[in-house]
Amino acid sequence: MKTLLLKKEEVRSLISMKEVISTVEEAYKAFNSNQVVQPDYIGIHLPPPRGEIDFKLSYYMANEVISMKASSGGFNDNPAVHGVPSGMGTILLFDGKSCALICVMDGSLITGLRTGAAGAVSVKLLARKNSRKVTSIGTGNQARMQIRAISEVMNIEEIHAWDNSPDTLARFKADIEGEFGIPVSMASSKKTAVELADILITTTRGKGTLVEADWIKPGTHIVAIGTDQQGKQELDPEIFRHAKIVNDSTSQCAEKGETWHPLNAKIITYDDIHAEIGEILLGEKPGRENDEEITIFDSTGMAIQDNTTAEKIYRNALGNNVGSFFEFL
Ligand SMILES: NC(=O)c1ccc[n+]([C@@H]2O[C@H](COP(=O)([O-])OP(=O)(O)OC[C@H]3O[C@@H](n4cnc5c(N)ncnc54)[C@H](O)[C@@H]3O)[C@@H](O)[C@H]2O)c1
Repeated sequence: MKTLLLKKEEVRSLISMKEVISTVEEAYKAFNSNQVVQPDYIGIHLPPPRGEIDFKLSYYMANEVISMKASSGGFNDNPAVHGVPSGMGTILLFDGKSCALICVMDGSLITGLRTGAAGAVSVKLLARKNSRKVTSIGTGNQARMQIRAISEVMNIEEIHAWDNSPDTLARFKADIEGEFGIPVSMASSKKTAVELADILITTTRGKGTLVEADWIKPGTHIVAIGTDQQGKQELDPEIFRHAKIVNDSTSQCAEKGETWHPLNAKIITYDDIHAEIGEILLGEKPGRENDEEITIFDSTGMAIQDNTTAEKIYRNALGNNVGSFFEFL
């Protein structure tokens, strides 16, 4: 039995953002077509100053691949003490027919790629077609991935960015202007930045309201990324009261996404959630229906996104003779 091994730089060279957008669309459609087995993810929190490691599993019937992503984070002493990054990722792919281990690849890039692509898919379905201005609340890794992916599906003319760390904000401006040539204005206040948005991206590690309801103008599309665990929050729950709410997985979003907050505050009920995004992709429910509605895509991130993206990387590697084989048996 031969297992393909892929290093980080090989993974990087084996897939384009356009391909990831298409693998994430496939993942969402599969999820809403009873093609996916995706148990709740599990994790282990190690005693401080160590962080946590999470395991995300999925089986996709159409590609006959079972994926497991192990990702760690919060090991802040790692670079100085152990000479490794503070967070790492590894993906294992098993053949669904035999459960043979077919691939082991570095997984540190895939989370960002598939999360950026998730935002881009939502923009295609839910943003106004004349959207040109993107506001980014949060300017870390995921903010960069959102810009990278969204610029594949629309023409971004200007970005208004805000972060509670001025240094991080300044680095984001330099990086984005250098890489994409899109002007980034560093907002003096969140309110001003949000009021200018056609598309609002939130990608902080915030634990309370960062964006107030009365700052959001009609027609805005909101991509809510940062809240993927209980205890995190970025949006005023009142934003949900009159918005078109779309989840990646309603069971996940209602438990640990931004959608939990308005449900908990009884501002909305489950009946007020318009759709899971796969239902819109499958044509079962409409996306944006007019230029006035406020749309929210709440993404908590799903293992099936890792599965379809990693499987594409594996196929591309086989097709291009990239990687090396190891015989465990
Ligand atoms: N939905 C998903 O699929 C998904 C996937 C990956 C990461 N995430 C989540 O997205 C968030 C951001 O991840 P990242 O990799 O970009 O992290 P990061 O640390 O690179 O960036 C976070 C940014 O938010 C800012 N920030 C932190 N706390 C803040 C606060 N209280 N108020 C305002 N700004 C604050 C930081 O200065 C930084 O610029 C995390 O919560 C992460 O768990 C979600």
